Amino acid sequence: MQLISSFAKYLPDNFNPQAILDLGSGNGNITAQLIPYFPNATFTLIDASAEMIDLCCNQFNDYDIVYVNKYFKDFLFKKESYDLIVAGFSLHHCDENEKQSIFNSINNSLKKGGIFSYSDLMISKTNPDHPMLLEKWKEFVNTNFSDGEKWTWLMEHYETFDKPTDYLVQLEWMRNAGFKNIQIHFKEEYWVHLQAEK
Ligand SMILES: C[S@@+](CC[C@H](N)C(=O)[O-])C[C@H]1O[C@@H](n2cnc3c(N)ncnc32)[C@H](O)[C@@H]1O
Repeated sequence: MQLISSFAKYLPDNFNPQAILDLGSGNGNITAQLIPYFPNATFTLIDASAEMIDLCCNQFNDYDIVYVNKYFKDFLFKKESYDLIVAGFSLHHCDENEKQSIFNSINNSLKKGGIFSYSDLMISKTNPDHPMLLEKWKEFVNTNFSDGEKWTWLMEHYETFDKPTDYLVQLEWMRNAGFKNIQIHFKEEYWVHLQAEK
């Protein structure tokens, strides 16, 4: 899926990160994309779920990986420590204040010339297009899981845990946090991949 492959695809040709931070690593999808390109980098994977961290531990045992089982708000974002920070489908769990605070922390934690790369659903629930987006999403899910149970489960989860924000609002917050050259490399409806420089 393009939102995942974009993490490796759009990095500059001569970019060779030594330290990579994966925010909300989950089952390791994004790190798995990057490892073939940067097998000697040190990866730091942070996730609030111990189960997800365990999944990654079993998967990446041949590489230099630091695992952090914490919420973002409890993680110490060390100043100028990473060349690349990635977030795949994890920041929509954070409310507006936390997103803004995380953008500041990410910018602060990137080394000079560092890159932030980010894929997610970027529409707020009050956006007039939101009902249309849900309809299309429902159609897609029910095509693949025809009994409708998957969609019901997804929506229960979405209502409780997901707090997506419009991409234009997030771009403004990222500029306020000091990011430059923010590029949207992929966008389908409100599913967006973007990349920004410190
Ligand atoms: C939808 S998964 C995405 C996993 C992976 N990055 C991917 O693209 O497939 C989101 C992950 O973010 C983690 N997460 C959500 N909110 C978090 C928070 N505030 N602090 C740390 N981890 C969080 C969840 O535990 C989950 O594993």
